[in-house]
Amino acid sequence: MKVLLLCGGEGTRLRPFTHSIPKQLLPVVNKPILHHILEWVAAKTPLREVVLLTGENQEIFRQAVGDGSRWGLQISYVCQPRPLGLAHAVLTAETALGKEAFLMYLGDNLLEESVGEYLCVFEEKHLDSLLLLRKVPDPENYGIAEIAGDRVLRVVEKPEKPPGNLALSGLYLFSPAIFQSIRNISPSARGELEITDAIQNLLDRRKKVEYRLLTGWWLDTGSPDALLDANRYLLGKFTPAVLGRVINSRVNGCLYLERESSIENSQINGPVYIGAGCRIKDSTIGPWVTIGDGGTVTGSALKNSILFSGAQVENFALHQSIIGRRALLTGRHRPDQAQGAAPSPQPFSRLLVGDDGVVIS
Ligand code: TTP
Repeated sequence: MKVLLLCGGEGTRLRPFTHSIPKQLLPVVNKPILHHILEWVAAKTPLREVVLLTGENQEIFRQAVGDGSRWGLQISYVCQPRPLGLAHAVLTAETALGKEAFLMYLGDNLLEESVGEYLCVFEEKHLDSLLLLRKVPDPENYGIAEIAGDRVLRVVEKPEKPPGNLALSGLYLFSPAIFQSIRNISPSARGELEITDAIQNLLDRRKKVEYRLLTGWWLDTGSPDALLDANRYLLGKFTPAVLGRVINSRVNGCLYLERESSIENSQINGPVYIGAGCRIKDSTIGPWVTIGDGGTVTGSALKNSILFSGAQVENFALHQSIIGRRALLTGRHRPDQAQGAAPSPQPFSRLLVGDDGVVIS
C-alpha cells in the first residue's frame, strides 16, 4: 500500500503567505508542515512508499524533501496541473498508485494517531473505503458523514443543514474502486471533483465503506487561525532547552532557545520557541510565540504569533499575527518599553504580513 500525499491546491485562505511558498511548506514551530507529516508517516505507519502530488510548483517540493530517504521513505512525484478538487487529484495519481489500495493524506493536516490498526481493519475486511471521522463544532464547514451504527449512510460536502457533526478528517483509505467512482461523478457547483461525491458514489454502488472515530488530535493548518492553533498545539508539546544566551531577562514557562540566539533585557512567557541566530531585546515574548531562524525583535510585545525566518519587528505590540520571511515591521519608539518593561496598555495589533512585506507605523 502507498501513501498519496496531496500537496496541490491554491491555498487561497493562507494568502499572502502562499503567494511565495506552498502552504504545505510553511513552518509550524521548527519545521515545515510537510516534514512533520513525513515524520508521522515514518513513525506512525508501516508504509514506506509515498506518492507526492503537487501543482506546477513541483521543483520547490523536490528541493524541500527530495526522494524521502531522510525519513527512510521512497517519494515519487505526480503533477496536477490545476487544482480541480481532491477527487481529481486522486485520479491524476491513478497510474502512480497502480492497482493497490492506498492511504490518502491531505498535505495541510497534522495528525497524532498511529494508523496501523485502521490499516489492519481495512485489509482484513476487504473494504473499499475506511473513513476516519472526527467530531467538529462547525459541521457546515466540512465534509460530513451520516452514520447508523457502524454503517455510513451518506456523505455530504459542507452541508447547510448538517446531518451530524462527524467530519471527514484529512485521512482516507481507499481500494482502487475509488477510481471508477471518480469517473462516475461530475464537478460540483464550485467546479471541483469532490472526494465526498466519489465516496457517496461508492456507497451508491454498494461498495464496502466503514468508518472509525479518530481519538487523538488532528489539526488542519489551512487558514491563518488554524495555523496559529497548530502552532499553539505543537508549542505545548515541546521539551524546553536553552542553547543560546539569556542576559538580564526573566523566563517563565517553557522556552526553547536555539543556538547562536540571544535574549537581552526581556521577559519570556512560555511556551516560546526561538530559532537559531535570533536577537531578542527589550521585549516581552509569549505565550505561544514562534520566532523563526534569524529573527530580530526589539522593544516589542508578542503573544500568540508566528514570525517566519528573518522577520524583524521593532516597537510593535502584536497578537494573533503571522509575519512572513524577511518582513520588516517598524513602529514608533515607546520609552516605557526601553528597559524590557511589561507592554504598556497600548492595544495589540493583529497583522498578517507576507514574505518581504514592510510595515512602518
Ligand atoms: P484545500 O485546503 O481543500 O484546498 P486549497 O489547498 O486549494 O486551499 P484553499 O481552500 O485555501 O484555496 O486542500 C486540502 C489539501 O489538498 C491541501 O494540501 C491541498 C490539496 N489539494 C490538492 O492536492 N489538489 C486539489 O485539487 C485541491 C483542491 C487540494
